[in-house]
Amino acid sequence: MTPPTTQNFSSQSSLKIGIFDSGVGGLTVLREVYRQLPNESILYFGDTARLPYGTRSQAEILQFCLEILNWMTEQGVKMAIVACNTSSALAIEKVRSEFNLPILGTILPGARAAVGIGKRIGVIATPATAASNAFRRAILEIDSSCHVWQVGCPEFVPLIEQNRISDPYTAEVAKEYLSPLLEQEIDTLVYGCTHYPHLAPVLKTILPPSVKVVDPAVHVVAAAAQELDLLGLRNTRPALPTRFAVSGCPQQFATVSVQWLGCTPVVEKVYLPAMSHPGTQFGRKP
Ligand code: DGL
Repeated sequence: MTPPTTQNFSSQSSLKIGIFDSGVGGLTVLREVYRQLPNESILYFGDTARLPYGTRSQAEILQFCLEILNWMTEQGVKMAIVACNTSSALAIEKVRSEFNLPILGTILPGARAAVGIGKRIGVIATPATAASNAFRRAILEIDSSCHVWQVGCPEFVPLIEQNRISDPYTAEVAKEYLSPLLEQEIDTLVYGCTHYPHLAPVLKTILPPSVKVVDPAVHVVAAAAQELDLLGLRNTRPALPTRFAVSGCPQQFATVSVQWLGCTPVVEKVYLPAMSHPGTQFGRKP
């Protein structure tokens, strides 16, 4: 990919940043964008018709990412943040070369942050992310003296999307998922899925106070800020209201999100154009 120059991007600084996830998980990244990049306008997409992603195959995730990024490119975004660890782990390397825009994922920023904090690192993630070993690989590449344990947590995303965070069943499930990590006496826990920071109130009641928590959302947004500066793409004018779009039921998304957004979002439904041969006919690169 030819690196974009400051010149050809400078007129694009007022364009939106695209952020996507399977559902409300990406709101943990959006929240960080509001905090760290308050002038940026955002296009948020939740692929709610096809969640959860965490039990899908790599081929499916790849296809979904290509469709979403293709649509976002058509909407004229200047950068995309893959606010989904499953997509970051399984697809980002493959899709990046298809598009002429910066595409940031959560794995590397999360791994870097974890290595800066601890040596015995636990990762809770979707089954697909855990099985991909993406976090273990990234952490050990940075510091091979670390120990990494990854646990796939298939029940978390459906519970969050069904708004069942304070259901006692969620705490029971969380205890079960964390128990092998606590047995290993981890000193650091990585939220390896963007949905999981929503569970922080539950997880904090189970984790010993000595365990430090890493939220890759914080670090991917810091990386995005650096990249915007590097490319001369940072917006200095006031942000436009966030545009929310989903592939499933807009009302359901609005109802679940309100607790994190502090207001009921206006959500539109979009139909992503289906594509038969990923990576060939629709590449955005000339
Ligand atoms: N929040 C996404 C992730 O970080 C997707 C979770 C899912 O849909 O299973 O992996």
